[in-house]
Amino acid sequence: MDQSMRDRVAIVTGASNGIGKGIAEAFAAAGAKVVLVARRKDVLDGVARDIASSGGQAMAAPCDVTNEAEVVALFQRARDAYSRVDIVVNNAGVASGTAIDALSLAAWNDVVAINLTAVFLMCREAVKVMKAQSPQGGRIINMGSVSAKTPRPDSIAYTATKHAIQGMTHQLTMDGRQYGVVASVIHPGATLSSFTSRRGRTDAGPGATPDDYVMSAADVAKVAVLMCSLPPEVNLYEATILPNNMRSFIGRG
Ligand SMILES: NC(=O)c1ccc[n+]([C@@H]2O[C@H](COP(=O)([O-])OP(=O)(O)OC[C@H]3O[C@@H](n4cnc5c(N)ncnc54)[C@H](OP(=O)(O)O)[C@@H]3O)[C@@H](O)[C@H]2O)c1
Repeated sequence: MDQSMRDRVAIVTGASNGIGKGIAEAFAAAGAKVVLVARRKDVLDGVARDIASSGGQAMAAPCDVTNEAEVVALFQRARDAYSRVDIVVNNAGVASGTAIDALSLAAWNDVVAINLTAVFLMCREAVKVMKAQSPQGGRIINMGSVSAKTPRPDSIAYTATKHAIQGMTHQLTMDGRQYGVVASVIHPGATLSSFTSRRGRTDAGPGATPDDYVMSAADVAKVAVLMCSLPPEVNLYEATILPNNMRSFIGRG
């Protein structure tokens, strides 16, 4: 059994569904104590039960990551339960596909609140805890998207926030190294989640056309486990993970 993350304490946001749930399950299987974060407590409780029945350790910690007071309380709760925080995965996010001339300020602000401002709040609290704890340091993984490299049409809010996540990760890595805090960004292509089920996909794997291959959350989770399994002085800073057939990303023809 892989125990590469044995006893490390990891907070994973968006752990009730999709990629975050896959990462939480993979971390627990690798021996981590996982703090499961999302808004739906009943769903998180189910994920925690499934992890426990597979022999892992996880705690449901419902929290709206756009709410500053709830984020501050989340870190206190994690420390009360497990004494420290080694890893934070900022995965919770929303998709948005609206042409700029139809996008209201309120809709723009909603996307920025969850995809960007919430990540800032989580990173700020993570850095405070990781800097103060002994042994000092930790890892932060931010969920980007291939949209930070190659946008879809009519996705200005989503694309802008995912580009900002790249910049935030760079800044965190530079500023945190003196405290042993490192940050990484994962840019997934199409992965089975509520994003893809809205397009009618219920299974990972091939679709109607070669371009419609959808990865599983477990595929993306392997990258997160690898990032966290490296020695503390080494960082896999950025990873783009794609279905081989995602031709529009790689090039023409
Ligand atoms: N799936 C893809 O193809 C794909 C590709 C590239 C990047 N990504 C990125 O991967 C990340 C995860 O997306 P996903 O595809 O797994 O989506 P998903 O299935 O919709 O999951 C989103 C998760 O975020 C949580 N969440 C949403 N708002 C929240 C809030 N205010 N506070 C706390 N939790 C919140 C949701 O739980 P609750 O509803 O219970 O709060 C849910 O667990 C996102 O950052 C997304 O941009 C996805």
